[in-house]
Order: sequence, then C-alpha cells, then structure tokens
Amino acid sequence: MNILILGSGGREHTFAWKIAQSPLCKNLYVAPGNSGTTEVATNVNIGVTDFKAIKFLVLEKEVDMVVVGPEDPLVQGVHDFFLNDDELKGVSVIGPEKAAAELEGSKEFAKEFMYRHNIPTAAYQSFNASNVEEGYAFLETLNPPYVLKADGLAAGKGVLILNDLDEAKTELKNMLVDAKFGDASSKVVIEEFLDGIELSCFVLTDGENYKILPTAKDYKRIGEGDTGLNTGGMGAISPVPFATPEFLNKIEERIVKPTISGLQKDNLPYKGFVFIGLIKVGDDPKVIEYNVRMGDPETEVVLPRLKNDLVKIFKAIANQTLDEIDIDIDQRAATTIMLVSGGYPEAYEKGKEIIGVDAITDSIPFHAGAKIDNDKIVTSGGRVMAITSFGNSYNEALKKSYQNIEKLHFDKMYYRKDIGFDL
Ligand code: AMP
Ligand code: GLY
Repeated sequence: MNILILGSGGREHTFAWKIAQSPLCKNLYVAPGNSGTTEVATNVNIGVTDFKAIKFLVLEKEVDMVVVGPEDPLVQGVHDFFLNDDELKGVSVIGPEKAAAELEGSKEFAKEFMYRHNIPTAAYQSFNASNVEEGYAFLETLNPPYVLKADGLAAGKGVLILNDLDEAKTELKNMLVDAKFGDASSKVVIEEFLDGIELSCFVLTDGENYKILPTAKDYKRIGEGDTGLNTGGMGAISPVPFATPEFLNKIEERIVKPTISGLQKDNLPYKGFVFIGLIKVGDDPKVIEYNVRMGDPETEVVLPRLKNDLVKIFKAIANQTLDEIDIDIDQRAATTIMLVSGGYPEAYEKGKEIIGVDAITDSIPFHAGAKIDNDKIVTSGGRVMAITSFGNSYNEALKKSYQNIEKLHFDKMYYRKDIGFDL
C-alpha cells in the first residue's frame, strides 16, 4: 500500500517510524514532515489543511490510505472531503468525519455528548456574548478555582484556571466580548474544578468495535514541579503506574463503552483514535476532554509499546473488522523527554544546529520541530525532539533518556529533568 501521513511533529515521526516497519507499506509519504520523517519516508511540502494539494498528491502517488495526525484537518472535514469526491472515496482515511471531530472542535458539543450518554465529567454551563451577565452569576455560585474554556480550537491555549472571582469575571468578558481567542471564544464553557491527578486513555475504533491502547501521562507545564506556562507537552510516561486493573476497568465500563455506543447512537462516524483526557478524582475517573487524534508526546510512548503491525490495524479500522485484531503490548515501560527551544512556549529562536543525534544509543529520537538545512539538522519549532526509551520500570527508562540527552546539544536547549516526579 501507499500511505500518506498528515502532520509534522514528533507524533507524525512516530507514526512514520511505526508504519515503515510494516511489510504492507510500499511507499510512505509525510506532508509536510520533518527531519525525522525523511529517514523513513518521503516528505512532501504541503500544508495539512490544503485539501486541494492533498488530493493532487494522493492521485499522483496512488495513495491508498491517509493517516491524519493533528486535529485541524479533521475538524475542517478532511475525511468528508475524501468521501464526497468520486476520485478519492476509495482511499481509506484514518480519523473521524467532521461531525464526530466536533468532540474536539467544540467543548460545548463534547459536554453535551457526555451528559447525553451519562459519561462522568465536571458540571458545566456555557455562555456567549449575549448572556455574559448570567455567566458572572454562574461564577458566583461556584467555588474557586474557576475553569473557563474557549469552546473552539485555540491551539491548546483556550483553558484558563483562575483563583480569583473578579479575575474570572474579567477573563470571561475578555473571551466572550473582546474575542481573546478570536472566534474560538465566542462561546465559553464554565466548569466545576476537578481536583486529582491526570492521565490519558487512547482508544482505537472502527465505529463499531474498539480496542484500548496503553495509558499515558504527559507533563504539560514548562517548569519543573508542574509550574509555569502550558506547553504542548514536555514529556510522557506509559503505562501510568496508578492506573490499576480495577481503575482501568472503571474507565472501560463508565467511559469507553458509553463513548463508543454514544457515537453510534448519535450517528457520528468515527474511524480513528479517540484520546480521552481523564482526571482521577478519589478512585473514580472523570473526563476532562476528548481529542480526536493521538496525543503528542503521548504517541512517542504509546506506539513504541504496540507490537502489532499498525497498518494491519488501520486496514481493520477501514474495513470495520477491528474485532478480529488482538492488541499486543510490550510490557516494558516507555518514557519520552521533550527537548525544546529556550523561550518556548513564548518567543524562541529557530535554525539552531542540533548536534549529537547520531550518538544516541538505546533510545529513539523522534524529531518534532526539526528540519534538514544544508545537510544539517536544525531546530524549526518550539518542541524540537522527543527522546524515547524503554525500561523494566519507568525510572529505568527515564535514566536512559536522560543519559542520551547528555549527548545532544543545540543553542538554548531546555528540557524538564523531573518527568515522572509525581508518581
Ligand atoms: P483541556 O484543554 O480541556 O485539556 O484543558 C487543559 C488543562 O486544564 C487540562 O489538562 C487540565 O490540567 C486542566 N483542566 C481542564 N478542565 C479542568 C477541570 N474541570 N478541573 C481541573 N482542571 C481542569
Ligand atoms: N499532549 C497533549 C495533546 O496532544 O493534546
């Protein structure tokens, strides 16, 4: 088969690394890709939401399957674009259709879905510019901290957690009236604050059947001890040590099953990954959010632990025969540490040469914001490279990642030295 992956991060390098190992994969393309994906695939310089250019590429290269990495093309309807085009409708797309992608595209849609299907989540109400006064009144009924969420996609920045009531009211006005996050905050979900430890659960579905992948925990804050600004993710661990079989059973019964049956009942066509962001409150899991794709950097620890041929799984998703697949997981722990450009998630410089990638042994460097420039690997983004390792325990795996990072260097390189500190 000829396969095209859309995206350019560490997640997509991991997909490419895994798919390239499949005997079913003949030619592999990544659009736009990065310096890592060139090692195992052919990069094509096309944007992930340039559907016309994607169509041209798919026809020219006789692509049989498209694997969608990020949420933007899914929320914009890339799957529907293929289904509605006579020349493309035979191509398998791994990722939900637009109606189902709203689970990530709209926080209010996701909350209504969870309420409709009795899926445990924080209590909430949503507001727009016409009833901002009611929003203030609702905030007054809550205890701090106050959780405000822009309804639409805001590149991971749309959630504010505030301790002070007046500040919460001001931010609500900023979001609704002054378009703090543009169109994305024309509606705001205000939610009950949930106190607990977070983890993520990843589910594959063909729309009828589902398979649960290993859990993972990512570290979103830039600073050690989970302090400072939110990032895309600074590191991840899989499995999550506090996710006992009993707790995993609760996740499956109370969340995964009603989610998959809810998609069917609501007629939301879904062939792809469901990323369920969870929080453990006491001994019970509650849903913080759905994403309609894999996580980054969670992919960098989840996919390496999957022993199956990923292309075989994707074919089963496309043919709705996922029930015939037995998922086989490496029992070792996997960890990844993200190397970032100094200054990220605020302003940072690019174009810094990355030295030492060839010296890495016993870890896998998944490239993210990195590209080839004059035969050198240079930084091209905030999150630059994720260093993944295996170990019999997550501590052993972390040790390998940190030892290999010693061999790597670029100007103003930064990473967290405390991944896993809270476990
Ligand atoms: P989201 O974009 O929905 O994943 O939210 C970003 C982050 O905000 C989450 O990873 C949580 O750390 C935090 N968060 C979101 N909703 C809540 C909530 N209801 N209670 C506590 N923390 C939350
Ligand atoms: N690491 C969080 C995400 O991919 O959304």
